[in-house]
Amino acid sequence: MKRWVIISGGCGVLGQSFARALAEDGYEPLLLDIAGPKSDKPLVGEFLRCDITEPSDVMRLEGYIGAPDAEVHGLINNASCQPPGFAHELEDYSVECYRRVLDVNLAGSFLLTRAVVPYMQRQRFGSIINIGSIQGVVAPTFEIYAGTGITSPLAYAVAKAGMIHFAKWVAARYGNYNVRCNAVSPGGVNDHQKGGGEFLDVYCSRTPLNRMVRSAEVAELVRFLISNRSAYITGQNIVIDGGWTAH
Ligand SMILES: NC(=O)c1ccc[n+]([C@@H]2O[C@H](COP(=O)([O-])OP(=O)(O)OC[C@H]3O[C@@H](n4cnc5c(N)ncnc54)[C@H](O)[C@@H]3O)[C@@H](O)[C@H]2O)c1
Repeated sequence: MKRWVIISGGCGVLGQSFARALAEDGYEPLLLDIAGPKSDKPLVGEFLRCDITEPSDVMRLEGYIGAPDAEVHGLINNASCQPPGFAHELEDYSVECYRRVLDVNLAGSFLLTRAVVPYMQRQRFGSIINIGSIQGVVAPTFEIYAGTGITSPLAYAVAKAGMIHFAKWVAARYGNYNVRCNAVSPGGVNDHQKGGGEFLDVYCSRTPLNRMVRSAEVAELVRFLISNRSAYITGQNIVIDGGWTAH
């Protein structure tokens, strides 16, 4: 029996980290990504090129999860994008960029959730995880971005707040079928904790645990939420931010 966990944006940094943890636990990660591998390292998981905002691309999922020897244990709605102009000020923000950020996060997650829920209902189990962000929980501390060229745009904040509420709605609707849905909201992720420059220093100095989160730490939470050890947790947003949102 193939125990699929579908990961959108599965070729990215967090996507691969989730895939590694879940493969260790005996799941088959199915990586849906618009782009291929980002490095020469072999991908962990089976790669299906897919723009998750395209219904016809998402339909190709059926070939995997509809197979007689398949179970769908999880869906991780993880893909996000930074189209050209992503970091522009609101006054200069294009509606195309704004729409694309919402489309990938919210419409993409909608299409994938719509595709997997009937299978999970039939199985009477399944765990869906939406990747949010602290940017969907609290408003940005704009001072930390001054002069860095980095920012947290409105489109991203709104998309991530939407991902969190999306999880509550799905949890309420499908709990009767033992289908769970939670959001995981990380703070800034950095796997190379040294030499990150001024922005990293300022960010870390404002974080109670004085560092960014490592992708493997977010993966531990995801591993727990996919497993039965979290069988009674649904409809929650679990923030993993070293205390950033505590003050
Ligand atoms: N990196 C951070 O600091 C951080 C912090 C909080 C939350 N997050 C969230 O975590 C998630 C993963 O982030 P990451 O750092 O791994 O980013 P990443 O850019 O490494 O990965 C995102 C992946 O999504 C894919 N993608 C984009 N558009 C797509 C589409 N239309 N269809 C399919 N795939 C598409 C990209 O090709 C990429 O592989 C995102 O939702 C992000 O917002 C990241």
